[in-house]
Amino acid sequence: MRLDVGRQAKRPSHNERMDTSIPVLTIDGPSGSGKGTISRLVAQQLGWHYLDSGALYRAVGVSAGWANLDLADPAALVRCAFDTEIRFRETPTGDLRIIVNGLDATDELRTETAGAAASAIAAIPEVRTALKERQRDFRCAPGLVADGRDMGTVIFPDASVKVFLTASADERAERRYKQLNGKGVPVTLAGLLREILARDARDAQRAVAPLRPAEDAVRIDTTGLGIDHVVDEVLALVGNRRGAQ
Ligand code: C5P
Repeated sequence: MRLDVGRQAKRPSHNERMDTSIPVLTIDGPSGSGKGTISRLVAQQLGWHYLDSGALYRAVGVSAGWANLDLADPAALVRCAFDTEIRFRETPTGDLRIIVNGLDATDELRTETAGAAASAIAAIPEVRTALKERQRDFRCAPGLVADGRDMGTVIFPDASVKVFLTASADERAERRYKQLNGKGVPVTLAGLLREILARDARDAQRAVAPLRPAEDAVRIDTTGLGIDHVVDEVLALVGNRRGAQ
């Protein structure tokens, strides 16, 4: 997996960025559908770059919190989206660390508070516009796996393969619970389920770039499926598309 990200990465030339011949695999879906894990593993297997677009929204949310910005002040949040410096760094052990304005914010970004702040600011159209080009900058050879909510519908509508992952809300809450509990974060299953349902509703109902599958996306319901099974299914889709070209 290749990680070079955002403003600190070597910025590709305009032509390179617009090079639609660079293949993109989009993996969209609701929180807890397994997007992050599957996308990272698939990117690793393909040797492609990886974009965790949710981390950008979370980083802006966290940065806004640090600056005590009012989540009801869109103009301040839009400025924050333009100004927040976000870098992704892979440690020698293969962990992905996310650096926001020079501080390692990886753990804070994963909290439900950061997720809820991200979801609130992600509903502001100008914030989405502010992050659009930053996301498209990730499209570099040999290819990109982009994970989020609107990767296939808005950011990379010409992606060669589009996947939409789902899973039952109960299973998604359980996965989050195991993940956070394992890290010692104090959460309850019922609380996580409530937050997941509230976030799903807000993401699906917002006016701009609502969470929905692209018309040409392949839907995979991951309820009860193992990670390896889903990774193989996604890799097969990429392989088939390449074979067809
Ligand atoms: O994927 P993740 O849970 O990290 O995303 C956090 C929030 O950021 C989501 O609930 C969603 O509101 C927002 N988001 C978005 N568009 C994306 C990625 C994330 O609106 N492409």
